Amino acid sequence: MPLRNKLTSNESVVCVIGLGYVGLPLAEAFSKTLKVIGFDIDSERLKKVSKNQSNQNLTFTDNAEAIRQADFIVICVPTPVTASREPDLSYVRQAATLAGRNMKKDSVVILESTVYPGVTEEVIRPILEKESGLSCGADFKLAYSPERINPGDREHSLEKIIKIVAGMDEPVTELVADLYRKVTPFIFKAKDIKTAEAAKVIENIQRDLNIALANELAIIFQKIGLNTRDVFEAASTKWNFHRYNPGLVGGYCIPVVPYYLVYKAREAGYHPQVILAGRMINDAMPGQVAAITIKALNNMGKVLKGSRVLVMGLTYKENVADARETPAKALIKELKEYGVEISGFEPQLDTDDLKKEFDIELCHDLEQVKKTRVDAVILTVAHTAFRQLSLRDLKAIQNHDPILVDIPGVFNADEARQAGFFYRTL
Ligand SMILES: NC(=O)c1ccc[n+]([C@@H]2O[C@H](COP(=O)([O-])OP(=O)(O)OC[C@H]3O[C@@H](n4cnc5c(N)ncnc54)[C@H](O)[C@@H]3O)[C@@H](O)[C@H]2O)c1
Repeated sequence: MPLRNKLTSNESVVCVIGLGYVGLPLAEAFSKTLKVIGFDIDSERLKKVSKNQSNQNLTFTDNAEAIRQADFIVICVPTPVTASREPDLSYVRQAATLAGRNMKKDSVVILESTVYPGVTEEVIRPILEKESGLSCGADFKLAYSPERINPGDREHSLEKIIKIVAGMDEPVTELVADLYRKVTPFIFKAKDIKTAEAAKVIENIQRDLNIALANELAIIFQKIGLNTRDVFEAASTKWNFHRYNPGLVGGYCIPVVPYYLVYKAREAGYHPQVILAGRMINDAMPGQVAAITIKALNNMGKVLKGSRVLVMGLTYKENVADARETPAKALIKELKEYGVEISGFEPQLDTDDLKKEFDIELCHDLEQVKKTRVDAVILTVAHTAFRQLSLRDLKAIQNHDPILVDIPGVFNADEARQAGFFYRTL
């Protein structure tokens, strides 16, 4: 039966390769109407995702031969950067190799991972052709559809956001659009695969640069004694001023994706400046926050060596349970260089999970901190749990002359000062 008819009658089989933050929700969403095979090479991950899974349409496996059942193969594997900040396509290559060795004729391979323009057609396609012995176009089809979900953001869930799709030609784009219509009614058909790849990377780059500008302005305003948020509030009254808040930037997308386009641009003989300037500023923010904290301790006459600083919020952003690519690590590293003693508190994660990531004392709750007390508190992210705290709660865990470095600006500066805090924000 032709693929289109199979899709219309919900008889198509989808294989999602890579069951992480992107792949698992996608597999679950497709499985509401289609048979889905979730394939991952990490057996621990498979054990975790299989728990509480009762959907008959969705099966999980680490056996690559299962890919052969699929009409649509969707690749959702990581795309990090190497230590020298070059695109690391090893996961994508490995996934394409496994797909190529096991795919059947007439299937459609869709890449969802974030990549620079050209990866689908110039990296994935030759691997698929070599490993399968099939010819792209005649024997199988190729497409790209970037993932835009935003962890911790319930408003913009998979079913509610516009899905960009692009196939190797118009009929493939139409077919892939129909596949994703099983998940969301909001489809945008991009002109071609490279356009869709480029669209995804610039979404992240624009955000990185906007935050970098806010961070640079925060540094300037701090130096000249202005409150950044007051300035932004005033400027925001202009119809075309876009407000971004200063802060730490972490995670897998924003600090990583710009390097993908930088790589492609260099290959084309152009050396990006604005994009890299944004990266430099945002990468330097943990150092800025460490310096603010050290100056605060000094201002309050506290001896740096041995001072106890509590870092509240160890995840890479608010309300997510993920501390892997968190800027809190760089902040802690900077602070340690001054000889201060660091402890951490993260209500989103189990302390056992955190131990794998951080070499610091980890607190289960603020009651525990109360017993030993600290000399300063740094609030890194605006978790809902932190927003529910009062200044009194933060004072109760500190020694004399409490210090609050409130990066996301959860508390009102005047109220904090009136409550006796030495208060700093970005
Ligand atoms: N996390 C996000 O919010 C987000 C948002 C938009 C786009 N993206 C992009 O989506 C892609 C995937 O990101 P993620 O956050 O889901 O990653 P992740 O690390 O959460 O999950 C990736 C999964 O892929 C598996 N994997 C790795 N190599 C494999 C292989 N060869 N075969 C099968 N499975 C393999 C890993 O075991 C892991 O379970 C990346 O390109 C990322 O940039 C992520």
